[in-house]
Order: sequence, then C-alpha cells, then structure tokens
Amino acid sequence: MSLVSQMPQWQSLHAHWDEMKAARMTDLFAADPDRAQAMSLSAAGLYLDYSKNILTRDTLAKLAALAEAVDLEGWTKRMFEGEPINNTEGRAVLHIALRNRSNRPILVDGQDVMPEVNAVLARIEAFVGRVRSGEWTGHTGKRITDVVNIGIGGSNLGPKMICAALAPYQSESLRVHFVSNVDGTHLVETVRQLDPETTLFIVASKTFTTQETMTNASSARDWLLTALDDPAAVARHFVAVSTNAEKVAAFGIDTANMFGFWDWVGGRYSLWSAIGLPIALAVGFDHFAELLEGAHAMDEHFRTAELAENMPALLGLIGVWYANFAGARTHAVLPYDQSLRFLPAYLQQGDMESNGKGVTREGMTVEYCTGPVVWGEPGTDGQHAFYQLIHQGTQMIPADFIGAVHSHNELGDHHPKFMANFFAQTEALMRGRKYDEALAEMLDAGMSEEQARFLAHHRTFPGNRPTNSILMERLTPRTLGALIALYEHRIFTQGVVWGINSFDQWGVELGKKLANVILAEIHSGKVTGDHDGSTRALLERFIRQRKR
Ligand code: F6P
Repeated sequence: MSLVSQMPQWQSLHAHWDEMKAARMTDLFAADPDRAQAMSLSAAGLYLDYSKNILTRDTLAKLAALAEAVDLEGWTKRMFEGEPINNTEGRAVLHIALRNRSNRPILVDGQDVMPEVNAVLARIEAFVGRVRSGEWTGHTGKRITDVVNIGIGGSNLGPKMICAALAPYQSESLRVHFVSNVDGTHLVETVRQLDPETTLFIVASKTFTTQETMTNASSARDWLLTALDDPAAVARHFVAVSTNAEKVAAFGIDTANMFGFWDWVGGRYSLWSAIGLPIALAVGFDHFAELLEGAHAMDEHFRTAELAENMPALLGLIGVWYANFAGARTHAVLPYDQSLRFLPAYLQQGDMESNGKGVTREGMTVEYCTGPVVWGEPGTDGQHAFYQLIHQGTQMIPADFIGAVHSHNELGDHHPKFMANFFAQTEALMRGRKYDEALAEMLDAGMSEEQARFLAHHRTFPGNRPTNSILMERLTPRTLGALIALYEHRIFTQGVVWGINSFDQWGVELGKKLANVILAEIHSGKVTGDHDGSTRALLERFIRQRKR
C-alpha cells in the first residue's frame, strides 16, 4: 500500500493549488453567475452553500478523482455493511446501525445487530417513560427531579451537547446535569443544588474503568449514602450505561438497571446508543427517536448520493483541499445558535480523536497533515473575541457557519440581527476591503490625508477567507441529528482520504498510564519513578506543599 500523497491525483491537486492560490473568490463569482446555485445543495433538512471557497468546478473534479482513487465509495460500503474497518481493534464501526430506522439487516460476524439495537431502544423507552411519569421513584418514594450523567469524553460530550441544543424540548420537571471532570469541584458544585432523595445518577462508561468516571461515581454514591444511609438506595438512584456488565455489577449497580451497547460503537460516536439515555430523559423518547431519524436521513444521503451531490463527502474533501494543499492547520466551527454552544467541543473529540493519527491503517508514517485543530464558539460572541485573527491574521482558517432560519426564541428582532451577522461575516471574510476602499472611506469622512494613508493599511482586509454556510429551517431533533451525522461522515471521508484508522484512540493511553504511576507516588509521598527533571521537581513540590 502506498501513501495517498504518492498518488497522481494528490500530486495533481498540489499543482492545482499552485494555480489557484492567487484566485480571488470574488472573481470566481463574477465569472460564473451560477456559482452559488451550482455549489449548494440540500440533504436531510440541511442546506449547504460551499460556494465561498477557493475552488472551481475543476478543483471539485480533482477532489472527486482523489476520492475515487482512495475508494471512498468502497470504504463507505464496508462501514455500512459492518466490516471490521477499525482494523487495530478488529471491530466494525456501526454507529449508523444505532439509527438505522429502516431496520435493514446489518450483519456483524453473520449476526444481524438490529434486533439487539431495537431491544435496547425499547428498554430505554420504557425506562424513560417510568422516570418521566413519576412511576420510577427514589428510595424514599419521591419522584426523580434531577438526573446527573457521570461520564467523560464520548460518554459526556454528545449527550451534553444535544441536551443543550434541544433545551426548548426539555421537560421542566426533570433537569439533567453532567459531571465529567475528575476535579472534585465539578461533582461538588453539581450536587450542591440537588436533593439526594430525588436525584438519579447515570454512570456512563463504555469500559466502566475510566478513572475520572469511576472516581466521580463512587463519590456520588458516598454523597447519596451519607444522606439516605441505606445501601439498598443505590439500586433506585444509580443506573449504568456500559458494555461491561461485570464491572457494573462490581460497582454495585443492579445489571437489571444497566443499558448496554456494543464494542462496534466508538465512544465519540455513541450518543445514538444507550449513552443517549440522558437525552431521552431530558426531551422524551419520541424526540430522541426523531434525532435518530435525522441522522438516518443523513446516513442514507451519504450512502447513496453521487459524490458531486454528497454533502458530507464534499465537506470532507474541501477540508482536505485546505489542510493538505493550502496549508490550513485549523478548522473553525461557528454556530450561530446559542444552544449549539457545546458543538465545537463535541466536534473536537469527534474529529481530533478520530483523525489525530500519524500512521496509516497499515502502520506507515504519514507525511501530510491529518486532522486539523477544530475549534470555535457560537457567534456573535466569537466575533468579539477571535474573528479578528480570521479576518486579518496571517493564516488561513476555513470556517463553517451554522444557523437556522427560525429561532426557538423569537424575541423582538434578535434573530434577524443574529443572522445578519452570520451573513455579513461570511461576506466580509470573502470580500475583504482593499486599501483604496479603506482610504476613500476615511477621506470621505473628513480625515486628513496623512492620517488616512497611515490607517488604511490597518483597515485593509485581505478577504478571500473560505467559509461554508449550513442553514436549516429550525434546530429540531431531526435537523440536529442530520447535522451531527453530517460531521461524522465528513470525519470519515477525511480519514479514508488520509488512509488512517479514524476509529481507535491509542494516543490517549500513554498519559492515562503515566497518571496511574504518578498517582501512586503522590499517595506514597515519594517520587520513585524514572521521571525527567521537570516532572520530578514539579511532583516533589506538589507533594511537599500538600503536606503543609
Ligand atoms: O479519551 C479516551 C476515551 O476512551 C474516549 O474515546 C472515550 O469517549 C472516553 O475515553 C470515555 O471512555 P469510557 O466511555 O469507556 O469511560
């Protein structure tokens, strides 16, 4: 197997960037009146305009040729058919099965996984019904008013992001909280406002061994038992979501109150599984099912649409164009929706844990950029913080703008103002402002020529900064499901192009291991390990000061 960078299609894109780097998007629009029309499409309730990018139809054809050369279609088929494409762990990658609303059989080792998927969904539905109706009570017979999800990474970010995004659909009588950080402050500050008699904990961990989650779970259990003083209370106040029944039982949670999932669900792709239990509790099972429907609609689009009309594949390829040929090193996600405030953090794990890889599936070292740094904040907060660098800084930062036509909170003209900023920013980023324009503006305003000439340099915007615009009619469970699936498949597309395994995460192991060694040293009060000078000195200082 050779690296993708050795393929002629890759090299042709390099040569093409050399031609394109001087191109101005404004000129491309002027030369092609149909550009916006041609470079936009709708799928699964989302509308994508990708015309404000430094590319032509020729670029798209070359990117399509690259996708064909790396067999994107074949890999997509293999994923959807349950082949073990996560080759370092020997696992299938089937988050798409979790929302396979068509029930088309999906086989893993010859077994259709859909009956199991549906059985867990049915259990979730029943449990959610009992908690939300008040039938499931706490140990002292009181109705559950608060749910605390204890999990980290994929067992936290997805449900937390979705619950915030679907706040308008949330029940007022059941509040959902998230504790992830092993910093005791997170748990202490969350439970401070809660009543143990009416609180239900979900311990969410695929492995049920994650240090942060297990530590938080056992402190939460202490908090509960201090108040209720009866070990039997655990069964009414703790449920688990995991693939590891043995560990769940060892923790003291009745496995009858455990919701399972499977090793073919990656942590960062798990919100569609029982890991989504807090979502279903917050917004009701029907809305959770709609979230799955939306994702399924995007799955079907990704699986069946031609490349030229395939939204996730196009976004993935455009990202490759910038990361590998234009030298972009980061990618901004800018939701113009306050309720999508956790989306950038969610996508950081989704993208960076998936594609932050330095070797191919076969173990060859890659010599090109894989996953860019993903970051962002909702507009308009971001505008008043970091957009300056996107507009006038020295690096190219491709950005996705995401917004809805209607807000769930149509307050006065807030939403038109909000979205006016969305459109204005994408326009300004593309158009920029020439020196002469800046100068003329200041002279017209009566500024002295000397001052205007000086300031015009600072008030010139290079423009030609690429953006994608993603619009939906309204942020609903369905459009949200489609949006998340869109990004999942964008990540997949890029992983296929780069020839890497997007579905393992060995990189987080080393730090975890060393933390355990260091923890033992902190407990013993003696630094005995083979540390570098800096780590040793820091540890000794920490231990010394803790003793005071
Ligand atoms: O950060 C590594 C990781 O394994 C993530 O992939 C995962 O989402 C997270 O830890 C939590 O893992 P678990 O669900 O097993 O507790």
